[in-house]
Amino acid sequence: MTTNFETLTLKPFNPQKIQARKIDFQFSTDIPRIWHYDGLITTHFINGISLFLPGFESFMVRVLKDQLSNIKDSELKRQIAGFIGQEANHGRAHHQYNQILRQQGYKFETWLKFMDFILIEIMEKRLGSKICLASIAGFEHLTTLLAGIILKVNMLESTDPRVRSLWEWHAVEEIEHSSLAFILLQETDNSYWLRAIGGVLGAGLALGFNIVGMFLLVIQERGFFSWKSLIELKRLLFTKYKLIPYGWKPLFEYLKFNFHPCNQDILLLAENLSLSLSRVEAN
Ligand SMILES: [Fe+2]
Ligand SMILES: [Fe+2]
Repeated sequence: MTTNFETLTLKPFNPQKIQARKIDFQFSTDIPRIWHYDGLITTHFINGISLFLPGFESFMVRVLKDQLSNIKDSELKRQIAGFIGQEANHGRAHHQYNQILRQQGYKFETWLKFMDFILIEIMEKRLGSKICLASIAGFEHLTTLLAGIILKVNMLESTDPRVRSLWEWHAVEEIEHSSLAFILLQETDNSYWLRAIGGVLGAGLALGFNIVGMFLLVIQERGFFSWKSLIELKRLLFTKYKLIPYGWKPLFEYLKFNFHPCNQDILLLAENLSLSLSRVEAN
């Protein structure tokens, strides 16, 4: 039932030296179905992200591995290898978590197959490696932004510690490697239009996958459609966690000509959290 943060102590947060930290998550079916104290909307907003992550992170690993042989700079190559390792670990941890959702009775297999079809048959086979890489850079911008908001508003405070650990670890590593896909894209092809179209595609796909996944889980709850759910949705998006007020402007900053994904405030936030996660193990 414990989560091992020892590796975080051994490999502290360091955006200059990306390394995979393998964490042994011990999920079990006694995680409550509605594990977020705000209710089913917030729970399934976050579960909906978990549903698409194993597929999306495998997609990223395949695309980035393909790029490795084209990278001339040995330091960048080493960083990208660390980035691939982190994403592969995230995908595995979320797959493990999704197994618990399955055991709790949620149905989503057709949805997973559909998302794989989009990523493999359309993105990889039809659109090609450059647009895939550009969409990954846009997706990474979105994940960094979301990770930053989750940490900033303490969205996971007082929730089930096993679920909280999974997301805080993931959020810290997303922020740590936040600039790498963008830098790799610039090295490969620095066309503004490739970045912009790929960015819209990557962020749009992730948002679409999240919303549909959340909806598919929410409708499997009894009494899902109620005033309480609508009020909770309003709190999530506008009043308590403020995802839209905090998120929309930085999201579109990606389309500025001079955009670069370096944000020291977010880095500092993740560094502090990384240290506090290390203390969990020390206690
Ligand atoms: Fe990730
Ligand atoms: Fe990432």
